[in-house]
Amino acid sequence: MTLVSPILRAQGADWTAGDETADADRFTPALIGQPADWVTDDAIEGVDGTTAELFRRPTTFGAGGSEPYAQALQSDDNVLYLHGNRADADPGTPARVSTMHAARWSAGADATDRSLLTGVAGPVLDIGCGPGRMIQAAIDVGLDALGVDVSPTAVRIAVAAGLAVLHRSVFDYIPHVGSWATLLLVDGNIGIGGDPDALLDRCAELLAADGVLVVEVHRDPEHDLAYEGTLHDAAGHTSDAFPWAEIGVSALRRRAARFGLFQDAEWTRGGRSFARLARA
Ligand SMILES: C[S@@+](CC[C@H](N)C(=O)[O-])C[C@H]1O[C@@H](n2cnc3c(N)ncnc32)[C@H](O)[C@@H]1O
Repeated sequence: MTLVSPILRAQGADWTAGDETADADRFTPALIGQPADWVTDDAIEGVDGTTAELFRRPTTFGAGGSEPYAQALQSDDNVLYLHGNRADADPGTPARVSTMHAARWSAGADATDRSLLTGVAGPVLDIGCGPGRMIQAAIDVGLDALGVDVSPTAVRIAVAAGLAVLHRSVFDYIPHVGSWATLLLVDGNIGIGGDPDALLDRCAELLAADGVLVVEVHRDPEHDLAYEGTLHDAAGHTSDAFPWAEIGVSALRRRAARFGLFQDAEWTRGGRSFARLARA
């Protein structure tokens, strides 16, 4: 399976995080499934508290606590509840609760998912790819595709299925900065990091000059909300709090323009809403 497009190969791109020899036929096995050099608690032992805090990673979607996201990816009981608390809300304010179906992430891509790949080119980078249904869908239509995800369980499932996934944050080292023809932020993933501006800025950096960014957006076009989320399941598993965000298409358009990205399409299908962004 070729995972790298001829365009990237011709550039003689920098395939690895270190000085290892470039492997032109695939994203190197040394990178696939491996964590980036995250700063661990051990590594920062002995450093004063303030510095340690600076280097500590924010919790990510559904992680920590009793790991409901990891549990859901490995079980049939996989309805999840995303509780959202605004940072500035009174402590007694009840959380907004939305229901998420992890079965969708573990299943194959459906017709709506596959429609996101219509007319796009490879290589595709699926940001927050989960178990990798969009990577598989991209490969099925002949596109080179790589995923990136912080969840060890999601990465393990994807890699076991033969998919190429980097185990790290989208904000860590990613090969081929400025060369990705298509970036995907599917099923709420514009929420990654709880700061859509930071994520759009990172996407603009990763994207090729003629690349496109496909974003699943909130159904209300003006919706623009950042909050602290916790993920829960019916069995009582609860994650640590993590920063998350939801954004509708009009709000996305306004924010994306600050990073030189402009909407060239928007559509709704299967009750889900999407926008495609490109450079001017
Ligand atoms: C709502 S799930 C969506 C999964 C997938 N996009 C899909 O539609 O099947 C969000 C995913 O984003 C991942 N994620 C959260 N923060 C991330 C980050 N900073 N970098 C990469 N992935 C991240 C989570 O681990 C999780 O797999």
